[in-house]
Parts: sequence; structure tokens; C-alpha cells
Amino acid sequence: MSVTTIIGAQWGDEGKGKITDYLADDSKVVARSQGGNNAGHTIVIDGKKYKLHLLPSGILRNDIISIIGNGVVVNLDVLLKELDNLGNERGQLFISDRAHVIMPYHKLLDGGEESSKGKSLIGTTGNGIGPCYSDKASRIGIRMGDLLDDDMIIDRLEKALPRNLALLNYYGIENNLTVDGLFQTCREWRNKLGDFITDASLLVNQHIDKGDNVLLEGAQGVHIDIEYGTYPFVTSSSPTTAGAALGSGIAPSKIDKVVGVTKAYLTRVGSGPFPTELEDEIGEMIRAKGQEFGTTTGRPRRCGWLDLVMLELSHRICGFTSLAITKLDILSDVDEIKVCVAYKDDKDSEVNHFPSSLSYLAKCKPVYKTFPGWSSSDIDISKGVIPDKMKIFLDYISVSLNIPISIVSLGPGRDETIIF
Ligand code: GDP
Ligand code: IMO
Ligand code: MG
Repeated sequence: MSVTTIIGAQWGDEGKGKITDYLADDSKVVARSQGGNNAGHTIVIDGKKYKLHLLPSGILRNDIISIIGNGVVVNLDVLLKELDNLGNERGQLFISDRAHVIMPYHKLLDGGEESSKGKSLIGTTGNGIGPCYSDKASRIGIRMGDLLDDDMIIDRLEKALPRNLALLNYYGIENNLTVDGLFQTCREWRNKLGDFITDASLLVNQHIDKGDNVLLEGAQGVHIDIEYGTYPFVTSSSPTTAGAALGSGIAPSKIDKVVGVTKAYLTRVGSGPFPTELEDEIGEMIRAKGQEFGTTTGRPRRCGWLDLVMLELSHRICGFTSLAITKLDILSDVDEIKVCVAYKDDKDSEVNHFPSSLSYLAKCKPVYKTFPGWSSSDIDISKGVIPDKMKIFLDYISVSLNIPISIVSLGPGRDETIIF
């Protein structure tokens, strides 16, 4: 029996979906713990691409129970569409009665908040994630369990709508939202999805007690965490090991393995600092070869070299028991590969820990170690063979961070994976 958490160690899009799908092979339960449909996890099975935003990546296996945990914010229209797209090709699904519902006003407000920021916009996915978590913290959110009771829906809407309408008015966003209209929407959602709603914490713990393997699938990445990310250029949840435990309702002490997923390079969608960003032809090459365009928004992802200063913070907060390094194939046949091993500030002092101050971070320049590139012709995935030069690159990362590497990913498919 084991409980394994899959965490994005960078700014998201590290390949968590692929790694979760791969590890789901011997799991009984796969649960999402935070975020919402801001996530975009692409999984490729036998050449067929599946794009999931809300459903846990275990859903593609019939014998797996998928859980949307209490820490997730749920857009029920998106969920219905994803379920519809999959048809009967899926396992069982449950949604926590404590998970919060993304309401139509949250999505509208996300747009309003962003436009009001002008040039300093965050570049959110526009899905109402921040406004929904704001209502949760303000104690006027609507939870999945509330949908099961008409009186509760009315009561919650009467508390939430006036404030949200006032905010929409403040941002000058026209709308025709009413308690009656939203009540009908909530009832329609309940009619279609009511049977999925349960005490998901109880369910997942029953499976842990039975000795089943459980996977907690992270969304986003540590560096857009609300606490430890590059605030305010962050999301509104906690994509960390602690967030995974809390958001799925299990005790942190029940987690056995924490797999930090990191690309062999680095990408970021949206605004915010990026010390190793490549605004040159190498960055362009990585974007084109790695197809670095957002799964959720289609936006080009900013690309740069791997940053070990960032990963030190991710490991400190999350306690990775191993790393999964993805997209190594994208760096094949590149002459020289760089890794950021430290920063130097404007006074030439070495910086080894990722700073919280963005103005100080702006003064930091990366210090690189350069590795000779490897040839794609020296890779034989079926025999588990990787080139010596790739081994040197991987060993350096593992030794520097003091984390073993358990998975190497050399392509989007399940079979393009080597386990160590
Ligand atoms: P997630 O949000 O962390 O699940 O990552 P995304 O799905 O948004 O982005 C990762 C992209 O890279 C997806 O299109 C995956 O199919 C793809 N991918 C994952 N691992 C690899 C890999 O090792 N090599 C290549 N070429 N693509 C990969
Ligand atoms: P996955 O799970 C990459 C980014 C957005 C924006 C910031 C805030 O696919 O790795 P939000 O809509 O959450 O309020 O946006 O966070 N962001 C992601 N970037 N991958 C994701 O998820 C992301 N989810 C949010 O681009 O900068
Ligand atoms: Mg993604």
C-alpha cells in the first residue's frame, strides 16, 4: 500500500498528467486536491491525445476510482463537457461535498479583475479560479454539498450574489444574474451530477485503510503556489505536498512518496519573473519542438533553462522523495545545455535561495553550468538506454538537489518512459 503525491516542481505544465497516468497503472484511486479547470493535463495513450482540465488523469482507466477532492474549485459545465467527451470509456468518479463551485459570476469577475490591472495583469486562465477561492476564504462560497438541498442553495446564493454583483458593477461588467436564475442552474447541475457528490475524505481514507495504492495528482506548480510562488503572479491554491493532503482530506503522515515532476528545462504561462528565460532562437526552438503552448488557453509558453535555485525551494517545501524529469527528448541534439546553479545579485553576491522579493529577484542574474548535449540516436527507450552525456546531466541535478531520480520521460506516450 502506498500514497503517492505527484507535484509540479516549477511553474506548471511539467508533465504531471503523463506521470500520473503512468503511475496509475497499479493504483486504485487517483484524486485531484487543488486548483480547477485552470489545469490542463495532456495524456497520450496509443497515439490518442486526451486533454483533461478537471477530471483526474486516472479517469482514463476503467478500474480506477477518480476523486475531485475538497480543495478543488469545480466548474460544473466544464466537468459535464469532459465527462461527455469521454463517454463510457472511463472509471468511476466522485466529487467531495466540500469542494467549492465556480459560479458564473466568478468567471466574469476574473476578467474584470484582470482588465483593471492594466500592464501588471497576472495573465490568469480567466476561469474564475481566484474569485471562487476568494469567496471560499470570505465564507460566502457555495459547496458541492449545498447543491443537494434547495433551501441551502437559496440561502448561499442570497449571501453570495449581492457582494459579487457589487464587484461586477465596480468593474463595469454588465450581467443579468439573479438568485432565481442561478438557483435553476444549480438544480440542473444537481440533477446531472448529484450522484457523484460524497464525503470524499472518508472514501479515500477507506481505500488507504484497505491497503489500496492511492495517487494524489497535483495541478499547477510550486512556484505559482499562493504562499511560496512569485506572489502576486500566482494561482490561488497550494500546489504542494501539504496542499495535496489537505485538499484530499488525508493526514500528511499517510503520504509515503512525493514525486516532484520537473521538465529538463523550464516554462511559464502568464506574467511574472523568469530569471532563466530565453528570448532568443534557443527559446524559440524549445517552444516549437516542445510544443510549448498552453493546454487550457493555447497561449505560447515562455521558455528558459532549468533553474536549480527554484527547485531547491520546491524540495524544501514539498520534501520530494524522488524526481520525474520530463521532456529530455526536446533537448536532444542541442549542442550545449545550461542549468542555472545559483544567482548573482547586483552586488555580485551569490544567491542560493529563491528570494521572496520580486524587486530583489529582478536584480538577480543566473549563474550557469554548461553541459555538452547528447544525441537522440544514442537513446534506446525499449532497452532503458540513455546517453552518457544525459546521465551526467541527470546525475548533476540529482546530486545538487540530493533527490534520487525515479522516472525519466522521453516523449508524451506511456511507452516513452524509463523507470530507475
Ligand atoms: P501538466 O499540466 O503538468 O500535466 O503538463 P501539460 O500536459 O500541460 O504539458 C506537458 C506536455 O508535454 C503535454 O503535451 C504532454 O503530452 C507532453 N509531454 C509530457 N512528457 C513529455 C516528454 O517527456 N516528452 C515530450 N516530448 N512531451 C512530453
Ligand atoms: P497545470 O495543472 C501553468 C497560471 C496562469 C497564471 C496564474 C494564475 O496545467 O500545470 P489562475 O487562472 O490560476 O488564477 O492563473 O497561474 N496557471 C498555470 N500555469 N499550468 C497550470 O496548470 C496553471 N494553472 C494556472 O497562467 O499565470
Ligand atoms: Mg498543463
